[in-house]
Amino acid sequence: SVPTIELNSGHTIPQLGFGVFKVDPVETERVVFDALEVGYRHLDTARIYGNEAGVGAAIAKSGIPRDELFITTKLWNDDQGTQSAHDAFDRSLEQLGLDRVDLYLIHWPSPKTNKFVESWLAMEEMAASGRTTSIGVSNFLPHHLQPVLDVATVVPAVNQIELHPYLQQRDAVEFGAANGIATEAWSPLGRGHLLEDATVAAIAEAHERSIAQVLLRWHLQNGYIVIPKSTHKERMAENFDVFGFELSETEMAGLTALERDGRIGSHPNEVD
Ligand code: A2P
Repeated sequence: SVPTIELNSGHTIPQLGFGVFKVDPVETERVVFDALEVGYRHLDTARIYGNEAGVGAAIAKSGIPRDELFITTKLWNDDQGTQSAHDAFDRSLEQLGLDRVDLYLIHWPSPKTNKFVESWLAMEEMAASGRTTSIGVSNFLPHHLQPVLDVATVVPAVNQIELHPYLQQRDAVEFGAANGIATEAWSPLGRGHLLEDATVAAIAEAHERSIAQVLLRWHLQNGYIVIPKSTHKERMAENFDVFGFELSETEMAGLTALERDGRIGSHPNEVD
């Protein structure tokens, strides 16, 4: 079974989850139902993906007890603020058909509007209401996290960032570790780019595993929470089957040596 990570909220999160970024809303119910059948119990969506309703429909259809699931969604940039954040959270729960999520994240710092600290205080109120069990952030760099920590009563439980061997974000990871904030990796496979890397391919061959499986092991062995996405059920199963082998220290170091500032998504300072 999937190992769990203990968050600073005292709650646990399955270390491997299933992400639905860019999954077409029309296809989401089928995709998430497949993922649940494969065995995933941790699902990661966001208001801006437009597919929370599909995630909720798959959950309902699966009949899996709510307390066996870990559900994350995120506050979109336009909804940052106090009342607007509360309203957006209400809408997300309504779309999901749930009365509670396990983790609610500020999606991007959106620094130009400068509302992320105010939004964080609203997030603390949501956590106090019990309608989200844990709260955290996404795409925050240390210079965004610090002003939050300066006023926070509740330290963010996680920071979800783009992370893979080509972009290791060591400053954000180390800042998180020093402050009890777990690191969660989005686009853990580098959205396909790493699937053609010769170093990763050689390690995969040595283990008779796929490149995707090797990349996921790198995340897991580094202690990161990881949320691969696929719309194909056989790939979902492949990405879930990563607990039967282990990378050596040399192999881990070989992957870590692939750092190349290879950002695929947006830079946190540039998203409004
Ligand atoms: P698809 O959804 O068509 O399966 P990331 O999580 O890094 O953003 O990467 C997701 C991309 O990698 C998606 O385009 C997904 O495509 C593809 N992908 C996911 N799992 C695998 C896998 N095991 N093998 C090959 N490609 C994969």
